[in-house]
Amino acid sequence: MSGWAELNPSPRTIMTPGPVEVDPRVLRAMSYPILGQFDPEFTSLMNDTMAMLRSLFRTDNRWAYPIDGTSRSGIEAVLVSLIEPGDKVLVPIFGRFGYLLQEIAERCGAEVTVLEKPWGSVFDPEEVIAAVRREKPDLVAIVHGETSTGRMQPLADIGRACRELDALLVVDAVATIGGVPVEADAWCLDAVIGGTQKCLSVPSGMAPITYNERAERKVLKRKRVERGLATPGAAPGSGGGSVRSNYFDLGQLQDYWSPLRLNHHTEMTSMLYALREGLRIALAEGLEARFDRHRRQEAALVAGLRAMGLALYGDESCKLPVVTCVDIPEGVDGESVRSLLLDSFGIEIASSFGPLKGKIWRIGTMGYSCSRKNVLHVLGALEAALIRHGVKVDAGAALQAALDVYAEN
Ligand SMILES: Cc1ncc(COP(=O)(O)O)c(C=O)c1O
Repeated sequence: MSGWAELNPSPRTIMTPGPVEVDPRVLRAMSYPILGQFDPEFTSLMNDTMAMLRSLFRTDNRWAYPIDGTSRSGIEAVLVSLIEPGDKVLVPIFGRFGYLLQEIAERCGAEVTVLEKPWGSVFDPEEVIAAVRREKPDLVAIVHGETSTGRMQPLADIGRACRELDALLVVDAVATIGGVPVEADAWCLDAVIGGTQKCLSVPSGMAPITYNERAERKVLKRKRVERGLATPGAAPGSGGGSVRSNYFDLGQLQDYWSPLRLNHHTEMTSMLYALREGLRIALAEGLEARFDRHRRQEAALVAGLRAMGLALYGDESCKLPVVTCVDIPEGVDGESVRSLLLDSFGIEIASSFGPLKGKIWRIGTMGYSCSRKNVLHVLGALEAALIRHGVKVDAGAALQAALDVYAEN
């Protein structure tokens, strides 16, 4: 007899920048029976997913499919496939995840130039455009929604300039996809990586990506077919300038996601069900309605936090709507407050990284977690926790301020 306890995770109110709560319909989808990877019923689910991803990314790109792995795997697949050793890469950085782009580009053998902004702000697009003119990079990699600081970088002007100056633009939209507009075609984004576990409210474990023909040209130039899969007479690929990773080689992956169905990995059956269901739910809500819901809940949360006397962190003009960063009041132990919220109310909010650790809390309003019930729950609980930690709070004001916002909208 095994002494291990039966798996029984506690139900939580998850108000972090991810992972967030998952729609019960997505969880149910994950429990459906397994189909074989070449069963026409399954390949048709793969095709549905590609079509729905095109709508989500607002693109006519042929290629829109998930990489199997967390969001970081999507970033790595795009960068390792589009960067050849020696390529010039520009990375504008305004928070933790910009450094991730830098690190991956360096591991790909790129000659990397970085631009840095103090945390809490973003770039004036003209600063990035001037650097693109000056450095003439082959590729620019930038974060759209920086969860570490709760800031959002405007991209449309940068996209147009990169197109004119013939640099590929790669965007980490992990935190924004499905919660705020991400316009792959209209903003001239050559490759975009989304996340599942944030505004899409699917568990962590897949990274939806899309890329256009400009990016595909680079992928095809470096293409290598696995020797055991090449049809007689076809060149298996010399391996000269080929992508250093097999798992993340977009050239091989796109053959698997094309009608060729040239086997690469074995598609993650249950995660594919989850992603398809999560996308179906997002598109059924309507993207504009979904963005409005995220804005409305953000407005109520912000009104409540301010009424509690808390100060928001960072430049307000570039606030990321789905992550609200709050200065931890002087003398308050931020971790003690977080523990009280979790232990007594079942609510999780996040701390931050590096220079912001212990200085701010980050409260997510993403996807299925982004609801009136959750916002009111977190405001009420935070107020109680602050009072318990000796902070003078105008009791009840936060919930009333949030309810006022709901009454107006
Ligand atoms: C903006 C951003 N990029 C990338 C990542 C990495 O995602 P993952 O942890 O799913 O690999 C995260 C995760 O929080 C993120 O917030």
